[in-house]
Amino acid sequence: MSEPQVSLVKKMWVFLFLLCVYTFCSADQYRQRAEKLMKETPLIDGHNDLPWQLLLRYHNQLSKVDLNKLNETQTNIPKLRTGLVGGQFWSAYTPCDTQYKDAVRQTLEQIDVIHRMCQIYPETFQCVSSTKEINESFKNGKVASLIGVEGGHSIDSNMATLRLFYQLGVRYMTLTHSCNTPWADNWLVDTGDDSVQSNGLSTYGKKIIHEMNRLGIIIDLAHTSMKTMNDVLQISKAPVIFSHSSAYALCNSRRNVPDEILKTVSEKGGIVMVNFYNYYVTCKPTAKLSDVADHFDHIKKIAGYQSVGFGGDYDGVSRLPEGLEDVSFYPDLVAELLKRNWTDKDVKAALGGNFLRVFEQVEQVKSNSSGDDEPIPYDEVQNECRTAYGYQNQKNSGTPLVLFPTVVTLAYLVYYTLV
Ligand SMILES: *[C@@H]1O[C@H](CO)[C@@H](O)[C@H](O)[C@H]1NC(C)=O
Ligand SMILES: *[C@@H]1O[C@H](CO)[C@@H](O)[C@H](O)[C@H]1NC(C)=O
Ligand SMILES: *[C@@H]1O[C@H](CO)[C@@H](O)[C@H](O)[C@H]1NC(C)=O
Ligand SMILES: *[C@@H]1O[C@H](CO)[C@@H](O)[C@H](O)[C@H]1NC(C)=O
Ligand SMILES: [Zn+2]
Repeated sequence: MSEPQVSLVKKMWVFLFLLCVYTFCSADQYRQRAEKLMKETPLIDGHNDLPWQLLLRYHNQLSKVDLNKLNETQTNIPKLRTGLVGGQFWSAYTPCDTQYKDAVRQTLEQIDVIHRMCQIYPETFQCVSSTKEINESFKNGKVASLIGVEGGHSIDSNMATLRLFYQLGVRYMTLTHSCNTPWADNWLVDTGDDSVQSNGLSTYGKKIIHEMNRLGIIIDLAHTSMKTMNDVLQISKAPVIFSHSSAYALCNSRRNVPDEILKTVSEKGGIVMVNFYNYYVTCKPTAKLSDVADHFDHIKKIAGYQSVGFGGDYDGVSRLPEGLEDVSFYPDLVAELLKRNWTDKDVKAALGGNFLRVFEQVEQVKSNSSGDDEPIPYDEVQNECRTAYGYQNQKNSGTPLVLFPTVVTLAYLVYYTLV
């Protein structure tokens, strides 16, 4: 009686062992295939906030930090290398409370710190500003480093500032962060936390889109309201990106992209670069790597493999999925996509092919025609920190308004002192 049982148990153990070996080996196969693909095609991620961490932690003093050793952040040089990151849009971000204050200067500081990352770590970062340079940098084994300005408030409603940002290497601008600008509405309008101001793009907002097309700056619709997304998709001559947004159908945060917009983005040749932030992935404090892969699958299903990319939002968010805690984990996500039957072609497109296609089209739309030089109407930007020089029909500046309370107080004091 006992003999056959033992042999059955033995057989079961052998079976289980073989199953484990098979599972392990095939998992390893996916990982190896992922790494091979990532060595052939650059992974170009749409959004990383390391520069913001450098400001918060070191006031951008790169002399006080070694990016090889930095360990409190989700990004450092060894992690980028393990993660096989081929290209990264570093975010030149300044929060909305700088709007109408020192937003332009703060943005310049963030652009500067990105330039200095490339200068101080030339063996790792190569600052680039075209598709041709991305390809060269990848061939040289460097992390192609691009600059994205996150939030239209950074240009202070001014085309000259936009043009000079281009000169400084900026290649995308997110039209809004989480606040309206005088010319475009942000996503909080859709949650009811902010009020409608331009109802999408204002007339001046449309001029900014034309100017971005003319300059060759990619339009980023992450953080914008649905109406802004639709307005842009209707008028932009070049395809757009969502640099760090996920699928609304899987997690109904207004930071994510609804299916009908996914379809339009796809028709217009644009891409949605998936954000890994737990609250945009599962709408909960926790998430897993496979939940992120679900967003890739969904966008692929609705918009096609030509419309998806990576936009991790590392160092811009506090909670990341289990298995994707820092930038070293990208290959695991790629392996998961392969496990889900993504073809090599699909994966290469998502890694960098799709983004390079969008950027090439943006470069083609670009023209050297003389740009739009009409300023925004003064009444759309009037505030006490803005002077009116150049506006012919304005009484020079806001100064009298600012001085008014002072004058009244002084008069009052003088009156009482005298009386
Ligand atoms: C992180 O780096 C600091 C400074 O180099 C070091 O003191 C600390 O022990 C490190 N922490 C970990 C967890 O490695
Ligand atoms: C960059 O490389 C990709 C993939 O190899 C290729 O399709 C594309 O034409 C290249 N672009 C430029 C401008 O060299
Ligand atoms: C992948 O394809 C294989 C073979 O066609 C199939 O058996 C398997 O169920 C598919 N897996 C998924 C996750 O779609
Ligand atoms: C634009 O470029 C074309 C040829 O590349 C040139 O003929 C034309 O003068 C340029 N126009 C301006 C405004 O620079
Ligand atoms: Zn963001």
